[in-house]
Amino acid sequence: MCGIVGYIGARQAQSVLIDSLKRLEYRGYDSAGIAVVPPGQKKMQVHKKKGMIKNLEDNLPALNGTLGISHTRWATHGPPSDSNAHPHVDCKGNIAIVHNGIIENYLELKESLINEGHVFTSETDTEVLAHLIEKYYTNDLYKAMKLALEQVQGSYAILALHMHERDRLVSARNESPLVLGLGIDENFIASDVPAVLKYTDKVVYLDNGEIADVTKSSIKITDFNGKTIERPWHKIEWSLEDAEKGGYEHFMLKEIFEQPRAVREAMLGKLSGFTLDNVNGIEFNSAKILGCGTSYHAGLVGKYILESIMGLPTSIETSSEYRYNSTTLDQPLVILISQSGETADTLAAAREARRRGCKTIGITNVVGSTLTREVDDVMFIRVGPEISVCATKSFTGQIISLYLLASHLSRTRGFLKADEIREFSNALRQQSRLVEQVLNNPEPIKECANKLAKAENVFFIGRNINYPSALEGALKLKEISYIHAEGYQAGELKHGPLALLMPQTPIVAIAVKDHTYDKMISNIEEVTARDSPVIAIGHESDTELEKYVDTVLRIPDVPPLFTPVPVAVVLQLLAYYTARNRGCPIDKPRNLAKSVTVE
Ligand code: M6R
Repeated sequence: MCGIVGYIGARQAQSVLIDSLKRLEYRGYDSAGIAVVPPGQKKMQVHKKKGMIKNLEDNLPALNGTLGISHTRWATHGPPSDSNAHPHVDCKGNIAIVHNGIIENYLELKESLINEGHVFTSETDTEVLAHLIEKYYTNDLYKAMKLALEQVQGSYAILALHMHERDRLVSARNESPLVLGLGIDENFIASDVPAVLKYTDKVVYLDNGEIADVTKSSIKITDFNGKTIERPWHKIEWSLEDAEKGGYEHFMLKEIFEQPRAVREAMLGKLSGFTLDNVNGIEFNSAKILGCGTSYHAGLVGKYILESIMGLPTSIETSSEYRYNSTTLDQPLVILISQSGETADTLAAAREARRRGCKTIGITNVVGSTLTREVDDVMFIRVGPEISVCATKSFTGQIISLYLLASHLSRTRGFLKADEIREFSNALRQQSRLVEQVLNNPEPIKECANKLAKAENVFFIGRNINYPSALEGALKLKEISYIHAEGYQAGELKHGPLALLMPQTPIVAIAVKDHTYDKMISNIEEVTARDSPVIAIGHESDTELEKYVDTVLRIPDVPPLFTPVPVAVVLQLLAYYTARNRGCPIDKPRNLAKSVTVE
């Protein structure tokens, strides 16, 4: 996720672009840049800096010009650096573009553009857009954009300008958001409403497959075939603060609802295969996964995925314990999971794993984070910045990455046949829709949260691949609602914790239809015999479950291996609405930090 802004009008573009960009910093903040077209001069003014927008702002000279674009980056291809920051320009420096999204076929496009003589100066996927537009440019930026996009696969919100067309900004959208802000003799284009709200409350949303041709006094929207589209404008009623959270009350809720898209982006370009150059050649017959907190729970899901798909014995430890364990039997392959890529325990574990001679794969959300330099290969989860301390979309993104990793290892090592891989990929493609279905029906979850909010202790139980779901559900609840919660393997309750159950101790039981279902029902009966109320999470078509429990929260019917993501979304909403009922400071729980950089 990145933030982009364009301005065309009578004001000095620099202050509008920087000011508006700061409102999008929640979308990315590892580097920033600006391009402004100076009146009467031949050379575009382009300035880019690694770091936050403030760093760019502090290093900017005064730029003269009323047409410009700007960008705040959350790196996906190429680490954060001045040269990888946007805007990117063509060979002649006439065209500047900013982009939010991922160009999936950029490598082949780049190769053919280089063969045609184009010179690239960054490692980004985005730069191909500037050169493609240059290739098709014949005095009409809109036409060149249209032709260039015919070659492009992936997700994008793009803004482009040309030195020789000084009353024109052209933008296009596919799967990444874009909004046009309408002013009087000025117009704005941005990734999100907060960027334009200071200047106008009249907006037009661009849809997928649309191009907007914008001057300071007009906006023309067409589809990719050039057919004109009439679109009414909306009046934005939100305050600026509401707008930054997309109208949601908290970043956590916004991030939960971003998951259909985040899950799609986590898969983008990887379903048909990817490379892990440094671990590809190694021999291994077992693996180890390390992480902390929510990332550890994702790793535990990963253990079940790797074991069930490819029969790969997989052990898991928290990062903080790993380096102090005197293990002699080390797995040659170690997978380290960290949203931030900066968790001190996980970094120390990565160093320890390499010291022990293991090959390491890092799974992280932050390109350029320390973890990326401490491992042999990296997989990026690409879910965009997570602002709320409570991890949500990064958890589901990590699980998606683990499915992808399992499928990659199975493919390269011949564990699955081609048709099995196809079937697996098809099931994976459904994950975003499943998340959407859960999000479309929050009312039953809210009702359960009303009851949970009064509890002092809650137990979460699950089995097999949904045992980690129980741990994660309990962590979410305790972290943001301050209710004491524990996650247990359902079969373990009778070995101690049953002593704590009372009528006022709710149980959340993850009871999806799998090979442990009957045992799970027995465990639920052990609980109801102690008069504890039970909320179960089960499959949509399961009509049995409601006979044993007080309430059933449903997930769509999906094979057991693919239940953890939709189950996680139910548990996130349950924790969120419970904490909200209790009036807790959801995005910043007491005593916690987003990234724990001490051991
Ligand atoms: O950035 P990381 O994934 O390494 O962070 C690990 C934990 O600190 C983190 O998952 C923490 O448990 C979350 N706040 C839970 O919501």
